[in-house]
Amino acid sequence: MLSYRHAFHAGNPADVLKHFVLVELLQHLNQKDKPYWYIDTHAGAGGYALDSGYAAKNAEYSKGISRLWSAPDLPAPLATYVDVVRAFNSGERLRAYPGSPMIAQALLRDDDRMRLFELHSTDNRLLNSAFADAGRRVNIEMADGFSGLRKLLPPPPRRALVLIDPPYEIREDYRLAFETLREANTRFPIGTYCLWYPQLHRMESRDLPAKLKRLPVSAWMHVSLTTGMPSPDGYGMHGSGLFVVNPPWTLPATLKAVLPWLTRTLAVDDGAKFELDFKIP
Ligand SMILES: C[S@@+](CC[C@H](N)C(=O)[O-])C[C@H]1O[C@@H](n2cnc3c(N)ncnc32)[C@H](O)[C@@H]1O
Repeated sequence: MLSYRHAFHAGNPADVLKHFVLVELLQHLNQKDKPYWYIDTHAGAGGYALDSGYAAKNAEYSKGISRLWSAPDLPAPLATYVDVVRAFNSGERLRAYPGSPMIAQALLRDDDRMRLFELHSTDNRLLNSAFADAGRRVNIEMADGFSGLRKLLPPPPRRALVLIDPPYEIREDYRLAFETLREANTRFPIGTYCLWYPQLHRMESRDLPAKLKRLPVSAWMHVSLTTGMPSPDGYGMHGSGLFVVNPPWTLPATLKAVLPWLTRTLAVDDGAKFELDFKIP
């Protein structure tokens, strides 16, 4: 029984970091005039209303995308990401937030393809309606994204961006995310992979980045953004990180330019900080 619903968290600081990097990765792929596949192993509902339903409950977006929406000093590299969110909203007010599939939809070209996995029946239904007019360009499966990814690699165009974004509601997700990335990279070593993880008190979450950095991949980048001190009771997420395999060589410099501003803007207390490291030969 799946209980995680991304609607509760839509547009929070973790989404901001993840979706900004996603936009950077897609824009980089778009520089070459050759089609690619965007594969989302854990796609979510596609898009989210912020002013009603689950997202309005804890209003996590008020500490995330809201802080960028009308920032007068928004750094230039963040502009495309914020523009994609703006295009998803009809007016001046921030009322809706696009999930990763909708962000990809905004940037994919006619010959690019999307392969989405979403196991939760309600979110799968919402995802299908969000893409009702997309035709054969977009394929949505109500199946396990970890094993589903394996079957798609290597993809026919020999170019792909894979987002691995599980909820980590269960401990097993840490192992599965790691193993899936390791195996996917063996099957298709020239793909670009982006794995998201939460910063929690949990040992699995603390150990994951170091484990990922030991993977035998040709190039990687790791970025994390901690928004504040871990809570004294040990509950809740205090930040998040991304591990990117085969990142564009320009990505670390872009992030280096933006992370000080982003960390200040998303900070909830003095514990806010970022980390950026990479190995790109
Ligand atoms: C963190 S959310 C995805 C958010 C989305 N990628 C985005 O950035 O907008 C994780 C999603 O994975 C779904 N899910 C959980 N386990 C899954 C599995 N094994 N395979 C596919 N989807 C799964 C959940 O229902 C949830 O919607």
